[in-house]
Amino acid sequence: MKLSLFAQSALLTVAAALPGRWHDHDHERHEWRPAGPNDSRSPCPGLNVMANHGYLPRSGRDIDLATFRNAIAGAYNYAPKSLDFAFQKAIDLKLSTTGNASTIHLSDLNVHDAIEFDGSLSRSDYNLGDNHSFDPEVWGGVAESLGLYDAAPDNEDDLYVTIEVAAKARAKRVAEAMALNPRFNASENQMMGSPGTTALYLTTMWDYDAGAAPKAWVRAFFEEERLPFLEGYRAPKTQKDANLLGAISKAVLAVKV
Ligand code: HEM
Ligand SMILES: *[C@@H]1O[C@H](CO)[C@@H](O)[C@H](O)[C@H]1NC(C)=O
Ligand SMILES: *[C@@H]1O[C@H](CO)[C@@H](O)[C@H](O)[C@H]1NC(C)=O
Ligand SMILES: *[C@@H]1O[C@H](CO)[C@@H](O)[C@H](O)[C@H]1NC(C)=O
Ligand SMILES: *[C@@H]1O[C@H](CO)[C@@H](O)[C@H](O)[C@H]1NC(C)=O
Repeated sequence: MKLSLFAQSALLTVAAALPGRWHDHDHERHEWRPAGPNDSRSPCPGLNVMANHGYLPRSGRDIDLATFRNAIAGAYNYAPKSLDFAFQKAIDLKLSTTGNASTIHLSDLNVHDAIEFDGSLSRSDYNLGDNHSFDPEVWGGVAESLGLYDAAPDNEDDLYVTIEVAAKARAKRVAEAMALNPRFNASENQMMGSPGTTALYLTTMWDYDAGAAPKAWVRAFFEEERLPFLEGYRAPKTQKDANLLGAISKAVLAVKV
């Protein structure tokens, strides 16, 4: 059985995440600037955010493992090595078009059913047109399920995306994509990748105090591929690692949908 990239993330419970250095980044150098016409971007909001803030090269080109490790530590305070498996997957699948087998351009990740799959939260399907850029219509349905636009500022409970709500929104999106797209590819990559990527955005935008992801942060992350500094986000003091991703993945999979 071939284990897809995000299947690995969904099944991870314990991994050897080494303690990382604290990165004290210069905030001006990391201001948000959306991609220009000649910049390379991917179907992955998590990577695009880092390029839009200069944690990855703003060009989105010629990215190696060391650059990726520094980026996830600086932008999100992940233990630098905790997502090596994801980067390595792109290398192992030989998606690189850079001329150097150890590096990737972000657009190298667009290949269907390598890592990219149908039923994404914010992208359309392979056979339905543009399958790698942010799609406001697709995301609009998911955002509604997540209650992103309902957040009442005076209602504390309304400010967060919980694991339960996220898991249900994901399942609903996949069911709707399957109904809409006669050529929906329910590959193993898709089946495991879908809950895996839901766990990944929750972990990445996790608010430890709330035990959930602030709606305002989730919106900025997907809709503008922006770190939600304006909405109060700071790279958390508590380092994120494969254990947290594993725990959240398990919780996503445990929700009855
Ligand atoms: C901190 C690091 C990362 C974060 C936070 C992140 C987050 C995400 C999220 C939330 C999605 C789902 C998008 C959607 O459903 O609309 C996604 C999709 C994707 N990610 Fe990442 N990711 C990260 C690292 C990576 C790495 C290292 C790779 C490969 C080198 C990668 C490749 C992809 C691809 C190809 C997709 C598209 C899957 C699909 O079709 O939905 N990601 N990522
Ligand atoms: C776009 O990027 C490519 C690859 O780095 C480069 O060769 C080309 O000159 C760039 N074009 C423009 C208009 O900047
Ligand atoms: C390919 O990229 C790796 C990682 O950045 C680097 O160490 C190596 O020198 C590069 N190889 C060539 C031939 O440029
Ligand atoms: C997937 O999206 C890309 C980018 O818009 C597009 O060029 C390609 O034709 C799409 N694939 C299919 C099969 O529609
Ligand atoms: C669907 O996924 C399978 C299994 O991963 C893959 O081999 C196949 O090429 C995909 N089909 C289409 C139409 O892309």
